[in-house]
Amino acid sequence: MTEPNTALDACLAEARRRYVERRPESRRLHERAAEAMPGGNTRTVLFYTPFPAVLAKGEGCQVVDVDSHRYIDFLGEYSAGLYGHSNPLIRAAIERALAEGIALGGPNRYEAELAHLLKERFPSIELVRFCNSGTEANLFAVSTARVATGRDRILVFNHAYHGGVFNFAQGSGALNAPFPWIIAPYNDIRSTLALIAEHRVNLAAVLVEPMQGSAGGGCIPAQPAFLLALREVCTRERVVLIFDEVMTSRSSQGGLQARLGITPDMTTLGKYLGGGLTFGAFGGRRWLMERFDPRRPDSIAHAGTFNNSVLAMAAGVAGLTQVLTPSECERLFALGERLREGVNDAARRRGAPLQATGVGSLVGLHFHDRPLDAPDALDRIDAAGRQRRAELKELMHLDLMERGMYYGRRGYVSLSLPMREREIDGFVGAVEEFLESRASLIRL
Ligand SMILES: Cc1ncc(COP(=O)(O)O)c(C=O)c1O
Repeated sequence: MTEPNTALDACLAEARRRYVERRPESRRLHERAAEAMPGGNTRTVLFYTPFPAVLAKGEGCQVVDVDSHRYIDFLGEYSAGLYGHSNPLIRAAIERALAEGIALGGPNRYEAELAHLLKERFPSIELVRFCNSGTEANLFAVSTARVATGRDRILVFNHAYHGGVFNFAQGSGALNAPFPWIIAPYNDIRSTLALIAEHRVNLAAVLVEPMQGSAGGGCIPAQPAFLLALREVCTRERVVLIFDEVMTSRSSQGGLQARLGITPDMTTLGKYLGGGLTFGAFGGRRWLMERFDPRRPDSIAHAGTFNNSVLAMAAGVAGLTQVLTPSECERLFALGERLREGVNDAARRRGAPLQATGVGSLVGLHFHDRPLDAPDALDRIDAAGRQRRAELKELMHLDLMERGMYYGRRGYVSLSLPMREREIDGFVGAVEEFLESRASLIRL
């Protein structure tokens, strides 16, 4: 039996009241938005209670809301904001491209350059094509695997998130694309291999995030042995192994695959690689990708009006050639490790059941008292435990926003290049203040 949550409920009610009182303009805009969009929202992940702060502008690694609260931006646009809000080199590239027309309706001078940059960096990419989002990249990648293998099933993992129509937070999401999915437990080699053995004749692809970023996951890294086992079995059974690196591609110049030394057959990309503009890409082994060559009589068409969006291609090239240098990439990775260690150390010293997970500059914050090596550990929590964790997450989020820290309500943090140790230590300090001031409430 869990005790009634009266103390936590009371603190939460007070934190909500203060939040609402200090954000009249956000509230007014939210109410107006709700007249035309369900819940005032057009991107579910951006909603949180009582209502989200409406953002007016971003500068460097800060955002400012319409009620003039300034925050350090630890959300980093769910990892698409790696370059920060106003990098002069990216802005200059966009302005230069803009001066020559927004959409040209022909190949432009930037797309092949960006393709070469990706091919040079990502070990699995011999040929690449562009699209408009990570969701589309996964849609095209699994479809490519189905055509190439002549098989239809796709194995994914419980709690995976591969896009708006590929959500496996709890089984297969209501809006999921109707592929014949097989859902395996993440980081569980034995069960996964058994499922692959059972479906091998019909299995086209295994689609996996080398670190589960969202859905039920929340920055839970794959164990290298798990990815190696997938690599081995996919080679043996001629199943296409697809790494979704939409989120993790920032882990090194060649993504998490290069850092781990495990090379899939295909890779999907998105987020910051378009310089902060709308972007997606899928690429892989020549034998899989060359079917898209329109010079071939048996070529497959891959369409998309904005696939080679001039502005995104130009911004993407500038980002990779001028901003995300190898040393900057490593610096950002190290900042993430510093944040994770800082939070974990602060929690450990106080015996608080809070832990930071993730890889490099992508961090998940969880109220959990045992090592989180697989997202399924979160499934074993009962309804009351879930409710308490949701309330603690809300309280921490509201408290940290009061301290000028902006991050994802579910406990999502992604860092950006304008950050220095000062910002990281500021975040860790704010978490420590939260753990200190709410000590009596932080138990499971
Ligand atoms: C791992 C992963 N795959 C795919 C996507 C979908 O990308 P997009 O939002 O650009 O469609 C996301 C988005 O968060 C993601 O984290």
